[in-house]
Amino acid sequence: MLKRVLVKHVLGATEAMDAVLVEGWVRSRRDAKDFSFLDFTDGSCLPGLQVIVPGELPGYSSWINQCGTGASVRIQGSLMPSQGQGQRWELQAASLEVIGKSDATYPLQKKRHSPEFMREIAHLRPRSNLFGSVFRVRSRLAQAVHRFFTERDFYYIHTPIITASDCEGAGELFRVTTLDPSKKIDSSTDFFGKPTYLTVSGQLAAETFACALSNVYTFGPTFRAENSNTTRHASEFWMIEPEMAFCDLGGDMDLAEAFVKDLIRDTLETSAEEMAFFDRFVDKGLLERLQWVLDRPFERVAYHDAVEILLQSEQSFEYPLQHGLNLQSEHERYLTETHFKCPITVYNYPKAIKPFYMRANDDGETVAAMDVLVPGIGEIVGGSQREERLEVLESHLKAHDLSTEDYSWYVDLRRFGSVPHSGFGMGFERMLMFLTGVSNIRDVIPFARTPGHADF
Ligand code: 4AD
Ligand code: MG
Repeated sequence: MLKRVLVKHVLGATEAMDAVLVEGWVRSRRDAKDFSFLDFTDGSCLPGLQVIVPGELPGYSSWINQCGTGASVRIQGSLMPSQGQGQRWELQAASLEVIGKSDATYPLQKKRHSPEFMREIAHLRPRSNLFGSVFRVRSRLAQAVHRFFTERDFYYIHTPIITASDCEGAGELFRVTTLDPSKKIDSSTDFFGKPTYLTVSGQLAAETFACALSNVYTFGPTFRAENSNTTRHASEFWMIEPEMAFCDLGGDMDLAEAFVKDLIRDTLETSAEEMAFFDRFVDKGLLERLQWVLDRPFERVAYHDAVEILLQSEQSFEYPLQHGLNLQSEHERYLTETHFKCPITVYNYPKAIKPFYMRANDDGETVAAMDVLVPGIGEIVGGSQREERLEVLESHLKAHDLSTEDYSWYVDLRRFGSVPHSGFGMGFERMLMFLTGVSNIRDVIPFARTPGHADF
């Protein structure tokens, strides 16, 4: 019996082959007088395989009309140098079997569809060139993340998805309960005996492991019930969170920069076909921009100086800014796109706008926090040095109205062998948007969850 070959391997052939078996879907069909052309794909790579189906194949006239766009077929034939333009090889079919027919109601016709329409058919969109490419790149990017950390002796930690703590303190938590929501909820009778939530970050758990295994990272789903309907926010997204013992904010910023650059380099290399496609059809100038980012160090600017730049700029912003306020996305984008024209790392943010775990600076006003901002997106990485001094951490908990009892395990790390340590979180989808030029987070997640939407 013949073994199936994936199209990516067929197209990579170095010589003509006699007996080739491929299985996949018809992207389009064009009929000539004595034969048909199929544009055929199995999703293993971006280019399709051109198949010539001769009219003399047994039963041709009875099944050829079932081979419309979207039909699944099994084809056996010979791989020959192509006569036509645009491809090196073509497959001369010796037999064709329709596995699952498709008809004119197939929603994914061979034309450009709007992103909004594609979201409505999110179950079929991975079959398109664009979404097939996005999700092949997504898969390779996840592998690159693991490679990057493994090469640097980081251990991968699986932190819990159900937690009782709100790491970021923003109150954007999805409740996890087995109680009847129509009744008044008494958490002590709930499944875990206390209020529990879907995690917003694996950081606190990762810190405990950094204080044992030195260098660790998490890479998993996180959940935020933020009611912000933007192109960069999802309610369920994946985050990569490294955490390093004996590391200060400077080391943290160094790692974040090396990480972003390594992922760019890896993607340009391992996804060259898809990246050329994005550069051509999604975001002209993408490749040049990524190369530009690779070739120079990220600018580093203290929050205070960043705000000064924004206040001095003649730009009018929707959200007026003053010292002490959070940077909004429009401010972040002005800094990175207009002022610096490259990725920047903003550090030393005001204490009052940051979570309890960040290390207090000596000025009494700021904490050792940092954000990496990139053109087109804004914040892609957020991190900090953690407060390792017991009394200072306790005072932060108090100031944030958090009970030392609930966080006693976290405080213990400062009681027994405390060490300076730092880490950050990278939004996996934001990185994917930056790499592909796809401008809406909904289009780099297989099935996006956003306010009002949990379809599929
Ligand atoms: O800046 P954030 O909130 O930082 C943390 O959660 C820290 N605990 C990380 C750490 O230090 N270990 O989130 C980190 C990153 C952001 O920079 C952004 O890229 C992404 O996560 N992110 C989101 N991505 C998609 N949708 C959302 N709603 C996001 N919120 C944050
Ligand atoms: Mg942040």
